[in-house]
Amino acid sequence: MQSPNNLTSTGIRKPGTTEERLRIEHLLSPTALLETELTLGSDIVSGLSESPKSLPPRYFYDDRGSMLFERICELPEYYLTRTEAAILRRCAGEIAELTGECEIAELGSGSSTKTRIILDAYSELGCPLRYLPIDVSAGILESSARELLADYPSLEVHGLVSTYELALSKLTPSPLAARMICFLGSTLGNLNRQECDVFFSQIAGALQAGDFFLLGIDLHKSKEVLEPAYSDAQGVTSEFNLNMLRHLNWRFEGNFDTSQFEHWAFYNEVQRQIEMHLRSLGEQTVYLRALDLSVELGAGETILTEISRKFDLDEMQEYLEGRGLVPVRVWTDPQRWFGVLLCQRLS
Ligand code: TRP
Repeated sequence: MQSPNNLTSTGIRKPGTTEERLRIEHLLSPTALLETELTLGSDIVSGLSESPKSLPPRYFYDDRGSMLFERICELPEYYLTRTEAAILRRCAGEIAELTGECEIAELGSGSSTKTRIILDAYSELGCPLRYLPIDVSAGILESSARELLADYPSLEVHGLVSTYELALSKLTPSPLAARMICFLGSTLGNLNRQECDVFFSQIAGALQAGDFFLLGIDLHKSKEVLEPAYSDAQGVTSEFNLNMLRHLNWRFEGNFDTSQFEHWAFYNEVQRQIEMHLRSLGEQTVYLRALDLSVELGAGETILTEISRKFDLDEMQEYLEGRGLVPVRVWTDPQRWFGVLLCQRLS
């Protein structure tokens, strides 16, 4: 008979069924979700009433938006995903050796390709595999968890359906020797400076002394490489950007005419950030019925939908150190386009 924790007398873990190895916890309770639904829209009203106008990036990700984003990651111009994966393939073994046994937590589970590279490295070292994905989308979280469980017979998954903020505030110490929180894909670049500071204090608060933080960041480089990554020849990024308007039409009974807007992305070299906008082709008035919001746009007027900051590897190391996250090792690609940093909270 198998013991409840699946350990044999020699302490080796026996594979359990998928159900036994999967636990999904909803930190966003139905009531909490209802509250966010109710307050939903106030961010749109404020963003569209300000000058210059902006829209919150979270409205990119309806089902179609998530699908378009997956396509962006495979575009020839979008070097980020590919470069980060190549770095991870090279350094995952070293990461596993440096951290030893640890639970792997991931903010925004996304495509599990990168997770697999990391899990493979720990598996090769003979470490127990425990994965804690954190995502707001229950559907994506569960389907990717099941795929991983099918391929890694000893893996245990404890998923949290939650915002990053809530999950970080609720994490209890890892059942393994340590924990490593992964934040990949240069999602950090989509936070402005202030949001970034808040994010790092939440990370430091969620880590115990000795725990690790793995960060993937896109680095500053020439406009000629950066701009095409956010304005691809096939127009997928343009579709992704315009899809936000369709999403708002659906969600808030709006009448945005997507043919009256164009995608515009450029690299602001002073701020070192890509700025992605939607530009109004003519003078127009848009109405969002569910918000009773009427918006006037001039010809050529733009709405900022996303920033993607580009970093300096040395500055980032100093910044992290100043926040109690000490860089243990840093990897980059031969062109120095992308950086992966392993940090540790020492005390
Ligand atoms: N964090 C990635 C980046 O900044 C992914 C991303 C977020 C993105 N929003 C985007 C990519 C908009 C293209 C367009 O590149």
